[in-house]
Amino acid sequence: MEQIKDYINTHKDRFINELIDLLKIPSISADSAFSEDVLKTAETVQQSLMDAGCDNTEICETKGYPVVYGEKIIDSNLPTILVYGHYDVQPPDPMELWESPPFEPVIKETELHPNGAIFARGACDDKGQFFMHVKAVEFMIKNDQLPCNVKFMIEGEEEVGSDSLADFLNDHKEKLDNDIILISDTGMVANDIPSITTGLRGLSYVEVEVTGPNRDLHSGIYGGAVPNPINVLSKMIASLHDENNHITIPGFYDKVEELTDAERAEMAEAPFDLEAYKQALDIGDVYGEKGYRTPERYSIRPTLDVNGIWGGYTGEGAKTVIASKAFAKISMRLVPDQDPDEITELFTKHFESIAPAGVKVKVNPHHGGLPYVTRTNSVGYQAAAKAYETTFGKKPVPERTGGSIPIVALFEEVLGSKTILMGFGLDSDAIHSPNEHFGVWNFLKGIETIPFFYKYYTELTKG
Ligand code: BES
Ligand code: MN
Ligand code: MN
Repeated sequence: MEQIKDYINTHKDRFINELIDLLKIPSISADSAFSEDVLKTAETVQQSLMDAGCDNTEICETKGYPVVYGEKIIDSNLPTILVYGHYDVQPPDPMELWESPPFEPVIKETELHPNGAIFARGACDDKGQFFMHVKAVEFMIKNDQLPCNVKFMIEGEEEVGSDSLADFLNDHKEKLDNDIILISDTGMVANDIPSITTGLRGLSYVEVEVTGPNRDLHSGIYGGAVPNPINVLSKMIASLHDENNHITIPGFYDKVEELTDAERAEMAEAPFDLEAYKQALDIGDVYGEKGYRTPERYSIRPTLDVNGIWGGYTGEGAKTVIASKAFAKISMRLVPDQDPDEITELFTKHFESIAPAGVKVKVNPHHGGLPYVTRTNSVGYQAAAKAYETTFGKKPVPERTGGSIPIVALFEEVLGSKTILMGFGLDSDAIHSPNEHFGVWNFLKGIETIPFFYKYYTELTKG
């Protein structure tokens, strides 16, 4: 395994150039104008698996975008690792805030990435991260170092809710059969503080529509006498949190798993620099639920956030108008043991109940997903921890993250497999934002670390 360092040194320029080629294709799953590009990306990913030495590579049709599959089975008595990732990306807008075009990757140095970072949409989420696995497997296959079986499943609809995946898993249980799932689609604390993600939040996402009068009205002639849907929606949204930033939806917290004082104390030992956090985001202060520290607020506590709000006149200048309709997109991040369907229902009932007479309210649910937590005493976690210790020279810290990967709970439900989340991105890598990037050092460190997971996982399961 020590050869991995030499292999990376010899091939790193090629690795980076191959990733850059992948990043040039705008695989935006949310926008149908890019569907050809999404499909082209799937083909490129399939080719990369073939080049790495995988067998039986395939573009598997689903009712949405395809899943790219590939495998290397060396011995059915050995464990099988299933690598999951996604080749689709978020829309790049707002375009004007990108310092270089989102699909023309460039390498630039940053304060946190003195060895350079690749700037492009998808650099970190998730093309750069799943590609580390392709290169790590390439190394193991080409150097006769693959200690177990590997399967790849790279999907194209993660950023729009993985709608086709439940069917895909159910239809291909045998093909996807595995001992453990390995994903790099999260982050780590810092380049000198390696961490392993042990929890993901769930998600309930809804769109709400408030209708007042049957047409847009002159805000002078009618103003003050009719329900203005934008005023009403703002008030309704504001009422969803109380003065302690507690969510007011009845029943919302009923199933929330409360951590013990000991667990919270253990969490508080993980490094967190509040001043640096505020400074990086240019905020005078943090904001959140009373009684919880910032790292708790974004990981072990459920939240409700407006992601977008619109209605009325937003063009240049002033137009005096009372709009007929107002809209908002609202996400709720969930923690164990909240259920997304139940929460969506609680939200809907509550939101309808607080609407004043005179407006009509519609709630349209979008995608959802279950939260997930793993234990640190599992073989998978131990193998990952040993791998990080080998390549970072430090024990990794377990960390629950605030983001969601709904497929992870589904993997456990349908395939009965646990997932290990080995993320190599940083929170500051601007995923989903303009100027997304992924450190070159992080990319190469991931490629270096992954083969050790294979080695230790195989050793630990044999023994
Ligand atoms: N890779 C992210 C999730 C993530 C990022 C988790 C960083 C932890 C740390 C993933 O691609 C994502 O964006 N997920 C969505 C959910 C999905 C249903 C659209 C999210 O978390 O908003
Ligand atoms: Mn992702
Ligand atoms: Mn994402």
